[in-house]
This record gives sequence, structure tokens and C-alpha cells, in this order.
Amino acid sequence: MGKDKVKYVCTECGYEAARWLGKCPGCESWNSMEEEIVPGGRNKGKEPTGHLRAIPLSAITSEEAARFSSGLGELDRVLGGGIVPGSLVLLGGDPGIGKSTLLLQTAGNLARGGERVIYLSGEESLHQIKMRSSRLGINSNRIFLVNEQNLDYLPKLVEELKPRVIIVDSIQTVYTGQVSSIPGTVTQLRECTARLMELAKKDGRTVFLAGHVTKEGAIAGPRVLEHMVDTVIYFEGDKEHTYRILRSIKNRFGSTNEIGLLEMSGQGLREVGNPSRVFLAGRNQKNSGSAVVASFEGTRPLLVEVQALVTPSGYSYPRRMVSGLDQNRLALIVAVLEKRCGIGLSNCDVYLKIAGGVFVRDPSADLGIAAAIVSSFRDTPVPPDTIFVGEVGLSGEIRATTVMEARLREAVNLGFSRAVIPANTARNGLTGIDVVEVHTIDEVLEFIQ
Ligand code: TYD
Ligand code: MG
Repeated sequence: MGKDKVKYVCTECGYEAARWLGKCPGCESWNSMEEEIVPGGRNKGKEPTGHLRAIPLSAITSEEAARFSSGLGELDRVLGGGIVPGSLVLLGGDPGIGKSTLLLQTAGNLARGGERVIYLSGEESLHQIKMRSSRLGINSNRIFLVNEQNLDYLPKLVEELKPRVIIVDSIQTVYTGQVSSIPGTVTQLRECTARLMELAKKDGRTVFLAGHVTKEGAIAGPRVLEHMVDTVIYFEGDKEHTYRILRSIKNRFGSTNEIGLLEMSGQGLREVGNPSRVFLAGRNQKNSGSAVVASFEGTRPLLVEVQALVTPSGYSYPRRMVSGLDQNRLALIVAVLEKRCGIGLSNCDVYLKIAGGVFVRDPSADLGIAAAIVSSFRDTPVPPDTIFVGEVGLSGEIRATTVMEARLREAVNLGFSRAVIPANTARNGLTGIDVVEVHTIDEVLEFIQ
């Protein structure tokens, strides 16, 4: 055995360096390098033995039919239509958001359907898990609890119990004796994830990993984990609200950016039937600064309320604050409104918020954002029966948007009677709603007089 060595690994992207660096050359984040000890005596690569076998594509059967339900429709939806056997799913989120609750409920549902589940917890005692399951009304002899941090025991147990699903809560608390770093370090996370991947692929068992998220939003420690697993689902929303959003940001077996909506109740997480209705509930239609956008998240339309507050600025630099949107989009829309429409926002603070805690990524929300800002600026309400769809370009043009028909249908279902949309958008002759086509952003301002 050689001497132990020290290396430095970026907790954000996994970049490795021989010495500590203030700024990671891999992902340019600051202060993210962590020291790790590499035990001496490297593994020399072995010559492979045996033959590599290649299989014709046509000989491989599709596994689509093999999916099975988690018992929660919204979780199935973000997984791409159910749980895929042999997949490794990472469920990330802030502490206390409901990861353990969701995984335990899933275990309960699967057990009720006759499946066996191993629930390995490195952070909670068996007693604590029992208390939670009593609260959730789960009691089964098919759920096997393990209170252990050493993953090396797991393969044998899996061999014995042959569970359909293995839950590891959380990836930050487990370790393998094969590497000497402490739990939670990049090396351990990587090694443990690789082992769990192997376990999943070997006999087609599904592994769910819970992972804590850092303040910055990355799964604590490494983004590298995201690259290693099949599916990454984030729990969004804040603990103060009861609604929780599940969002798939990576899925080897389905579309990404699919969202599911759940509600935290006294008896665990419950599905919410109509997300748009939830997000629009409590909307004050008479106030200025509020506009409804028909965004499209994953495979379904989602109507949400954009709220803007424009106030005279008391600072030398006006404030621009957003929640539920990318900050850069606010800056862009404010700039376009100033330059193309002559709306003087340079002496104003602008606050922007998506009601309900959802994060909107769809660029077609731009038009509604612009409408909300102008509405607050002029202190004139937006007509309450109107929705806005369209991306704003830098020259103030309104750019075409996809899947217009589904968006409009959702608006009709929720009782809206007018839609402001980009010109020349295909909508298959949908009726039941007045459609106003606009080419440039100043045409939108006419609705807010
Ligand atoms: P938990 O699932 O432990 O979150 P995580 O594993 O992501 O850290 O905790 C969820 C929170 O929800 C916790 O503060 C207690 C609360 N809760 C309920 O409101 N209702 C319930 O039925 C349960 C089980 C928890
Ligand atoms: Mg937990």
C-alpha cells in the first residue's frame, strides 16, 4: 500500500484538483473545494476477461409495459408514467419539505399492492419512522426498516428479502467502507450512488434516494449525483405553505420539467386534482399588478398568477426582486418596457412574484409579466377574465408559442373568456374564448388603460 494522499474536490461539480483553489475551474463557483483523503495503493486497471457481447437493437424489447404505479398519481406523472424497474431515482429537497413522508407513503402504497420494500434510514431511528407511519396509517409486514449507515450490508439483505423497491434516506448519511472519506463527502456520495446503481440494475429493483439540498439549490455536495442517476426529482415550495411541487429535472425514462402537485395534510401528502385552480385561488381580481399566464410545464398547461408591485425607489439603485422566476427575465422585460414602450421604471423598485410557490420556467409567461408590471405602474387592474401567453423578444416583438390549444382549453375550463396571444399561432379552431392576436408589446398595453 502506498501513502495516503490529499485531493480537493468541488462539491458543486466534482472537479478534482491537487491543491485547494478558491474558485473552481470546473463550474466557477467560489469556496466549493473540499479536502478529501485518498488512501494509498491505487487499483491498477485489470485486463478485461471474456467477450463483450453486442445485441441488435431490434432484439431488445421495450420495457414500457413494465412500469408500475407508486400509488400516487402525481408522483407517477413526474416519473414519466410510473416507476421503472431497475431505475435509480434521486428525490431532492430542503430538509422538512416532505421527502421521507413521500417515500414512506410510497412504501405503504407498494406494500398494500403486495410488493416488498426495504426502507434504509441513516438519519432516523426505527422508533421515529414508526411514529411517522402510524400518523400516515401505514402498517405492513412487507416494509422492512433498516436503521444503518453502512451500505455494505445492503446487497446481502436485498438478496434475502428480494424487495421490489429500495429506499435510502438519505444519501448524505450513508457510507461504504470501501472508501475512507466520511459520509457526505463527494467521494462517498459518488461511491455509494454507484453501488446503489449496481444494485438497481442487477435484478431490476428500483432504488429511491432522498437527498438534501443546499441553500444554493444544488443537491448538497455534488451535482455529480445528478449525472449518475436515472431520474432527478426536486421537491419545490416552501415549508410554510401546504402545497408541494414535484418537478423532474432529469428523466431518462420520460419528459423533464414535468410537475406534480401535492398538499401536505395531517395525514401526509395528498394529490391535488386541478393545479391551475389551486394556483389561482385567492386571486384578488380588482387589484392592480396581477395577471394570469397560461404556462406549460412538462406535459400539461398550468395557469398561474403573476403579481407585480412597482413603487417609487428610495435607493440610488432601484430594486428588482423576483420569486418563482428567473431574475434575468425580469431585467429583460423591464428593459424592453422602458425602451420600446417608454414606461419609466428606472426610478422604481419592481417586485415580482408567482403566487403559490411554483417556479415558472416557460418563456411564454413574459407577456403576463409585462402586463402585471404595467398594471402596477399605472395602478390599473388587468381585465380579470383575460389570460396572457407569449414570449417577449428584445425588440418588443411577441414570439410564437407552442401547444397553444392545450393552454387555451385550460383557460376555457377555468372560466376565462379572453386570451392575448402571439399572432399567427396555430390553435385548431378552438372556440369558447375570444382570442386577441398581438405582434408587439405595446399592443398589450392597450388592455391596461
Ligand atoms: P419530512 O418528510 O421528514 O421531510 P424531509 O424528509 O424532506 O426532511 O417532514 C415533513 C414535514 O411535514 C415535517 O415538518 C412534518 C410535516 N408532516 C405533516 O404536516 N403531516 C404529516 O402527515 C407528516 C408525516 C409530516
Ligand atoms: Mg427526512
